[in-house]
Amino acid sequence: MEKYTALIHKLHKTRRLSGKEWAFLISGRTPKLSEYLFSLARKEQEHYYGKDIFVRGLIEFSNYCKNDCLYCGIRRSNRKACRYRLDEDAILACCHEGYALGFRTFVLQSGEDASYTKDRLVNLVRKIRKNFPDCAITLSVGEWDKSSYQEFFDAGADRYLLRHETYNTNHYAKLHPKALSAKNRRQCLWDLKDIGYQVGTGFMVGAPYQTPELLAEDMLFLKELNPQMVGIGPFIPHHDTPFKDKPAGTMELTLFLLGCIRLMLPKVLLPATTALGTIHPRGRELGILSGANVVMPNLSPQGVRKSYLLYDNKICTGEESAQCRDMLEQKTASIGYRIVTSRGDSLNMPQNAANS
Ligand code: 5AD
Repeated sequence: MEKYTALIHKLHKTRRLSGKEWAFLISGRTPKLSEYLFSLARKEQEHYYGKDIFVRGLIEFSNYCKNDCLYCGIRRSNRKACRYRLDEDAILACCHEGYALGFRTFVLQSGEDASYTKDRLVNLVRKIRKNFPDCAITLSVGEWDKSSYQEFFDAGADRYLLRHETYNTNHYAKLHPKALSAKNRRQCLWDLKDIGYQVGTGFMVGAPYQTPELLAEDMLFLKELNPQMVGIGPFIPHHDTPFKDKPAGTMELTLFLLGCIRLMLPKVLLPATTALGTIHPRGRELGILSGANVVMPNLSPQGVRKSYLLYDNKICTGEESAQCRDMLEQKTASIGYRIVTSRGDSLNMPQNAANS
């Protein structure tokens, strides 16, 4: 036990551990150690962000995807997925609704939908930028070449979410089709950073074949990339994918890693993800109490919400929906935090890299 506490102190003080130390800490965690970690993570979070919890309106605008990731419910070869695509007007209507509800960040997420070409996305971003000059625009539309990322940025996108999924090349290959590679994924992230986006990355906790040693590589990569946001959530099997019989990741490990990430990158924006809310009714609140400080309610039109199914039983009612701001506010207040409606930029901004 002492050795583990000493590692948490080292992480807290130096903001880093070696790969071996990470694997050791992750394998040896106990409920008592986790409670201690969470208390330090909460202090760290409060030091930089007070009791503020940021909200982002998530618009899942297309579930068409040309990729075939083995874990994902909207993979190309899932013929049972009910496909939809929102047009520009429908997306703008979501933004207007979200704006009235108090959202000042819109996250536009989709599968890699070939009919949303670079030019179409540029036009979409331009329109949102023109209509909502005081809002942040976050894109989460997968892998593109650097010049396309640059065009989205020039059109007005501020932030980009692209999980690295797993750092390790062999592990990456077990989760993805041949056409995708860990190397290219990481190159995309470096390109995004270089352009000046606020970048978010992350991975699934308990993904098939994951080990503490592989998670250690993920933690080292997070430290190296030093992103503005990190999204992690448990892997949850989807019944129409090759991983349908694989066990889900646990809330317990997800919370532990949230606490570790808060200590390693104290200024990072850390969402309590939908997947975390899906595996446990209090997942989101417990995420906040472990170091998370962002929630991303769903702003997609009611009619399509049930179709953006990356995994089974995904929540899309209650405080998950943007229309239930009151419930979200109450639940957040009940654990001593408050929802804020600013853009919620990271304190670890690209231009301040030196002071991160
Ligand atoms: N369980 C949990 N998360 C998933 N994602 C995709 N499929 C699943 C699943 N079955 C995550 C991936 C992706 C993000 C949008 O959703 O990490 O990057």
